[in-house]
Amino acid sequence: MPERPAETFQRVRARTHRLFSLIRPEAYYARPIPLRHPIVFYAGHLDAFNWQLLFDGALGQASVQPTFDRLFARGIDPADRTAVGAVPDWPSRAQVQRYAGAIERRFRQYLQPDSGDSPGSDQPGETLIHLLLEHELMHQETLLYLIHQLPHDLKCPPDHLPAPDLSPAPPPSTVTVPAGSARLGAAAGEYPFVWDNELPGHDEAVPAFAMDVHNVTNGEFLAFVETGGYRRREFWTEATWHWRQTGNVSHPTFWHQQHGEWSLRDLLTDLPLPMSWPVYVTYAEADAYARAAGKRLPSEAEWHRAAYGDTQTRRYPWGDAESGRCGNTDFHRWSCTPVGSNGAVSPVGIHDLVGNGWEWTATPFAPFAGFRADPRYPGYSADFFDGQHLLLKGGSCFTDRRLLRRSFRNWFYWHYPYHYATFRTVA
Ligand code: AVJ
Ligand code: FE
Repeated sequence: MPERPAETFQRVRARTHRLFSLIRPEAYYARPIPLRHPIVFYAGHLDAFNWQLLFDGALGQASVQPTFDRLFARGIDPADRTAVGAVPDWPSRAQVQRYAGAIERRFRQYLQPDSGDSPGSDQPGETLIHLLLEHELMHQETLLYLIHQLPHDLKCPPDHLPAPDLSPAPPPSTVTVPAGSARLGAAAGEYPFVWDNELPGHDEAVPAFAMDVHNVTNGEFLAFVETGGYRRREFWTEATWHWRQTGNVSHPTFWHQQHGEWSLRDLLTDLPLPMSWPVYVTYAEADAYARAAGKRLPSEAEWHRAAYGDTQTRRYPWGDAESGRCGNTDFHRWSCTPVGSNGAVSPVGIHDLVGNGWEWTATPFAPFAGFRADPRYPGYSADFFDGQHLLLKGGSCFTDRRLLRRSFRNWFYWHYPYHYATFRTVA
């Protein structure tokens, strides 16, 4: 039986609270990523957003606190620092909790089946609830990659996390994906809810190509670093080279070097660089690596061919099972796993296309022909159709199963280094 909205909200919100409890109180105003608001913003944003779209937008109710509605309205990845204006005085934690708590209670009440104004199954209200829940789930991932960048002593590690799996990676290999059709986006009515950028669904013909069976690992990327990959102009484009030069970038953001030894910044601790895990990098670095190998990154349509082969309507690359429990996704683990160790194999034999990290594609984030912005949230996608954001597919260990549908499309600025994004190459 499908989960009821009230139960889903219960599950989602419980996890949101749990994620906030990973942060020591003194880090509440910390701003671990300069281009994003401090952590306090996210404590208000989720409920401010629910307020704006549901109680204000759909139901026309009067605001509890208009200044907070505005303060917490918007905080997505701007290209430059000035776009997220400095807020001189964030409110106290108690003030934010009072505001957010009041909206949370209203929302729970609204979702009660016997409350007068709850969403009927065929009213627009139901898809709006999905939208709000998916927004919160996406920001759970935001919150985690923010927490990731905090100094570890500002975090409260939870009790029972499994030890990292450091077993070795299988040898790299490639497979040929035969020419065929890729289905992009979703058919009308295919899912209970999709974002505007997933419509309209359509097919695209894709010529044959060869693709890596596994994500590029830290170990493979280390060879690129050590052979001077960041210093060789010929592996970079004009734009990516300029970024590399001005930022003096010489290795992935998640890595650091101590006494000549490489470590990985994991969510809660540092680890000696796990060679078998997928490498997390920007699009710029992924593209440079691919060029150095005489290859390139896949397009969105190629990714779909690799993930679903000739079964373009199956639920997941590994089959139709309802749960997303195959693949390193959905918070089952709180870290990466070695490539190829997750049983997440596509019909053409490619591993981990969903799970263990989002995958960069070479496709700029752009509307499908016939795109119409969702009037409830017109800027969600349309604000980012600027050629500077690249499309990502798949999911990380912190991607909820509700976001694993085939048609889900993610995007980030090409030099955004903080989210959980890896890649593989094609030829
Ligand atoms: C689609 C994940 C890129 O986090 O910037 C959240 C989602 N949009 N609030 C982001 C989003 C507005 C967005 N991504
Ligand atoms: Fe948001």
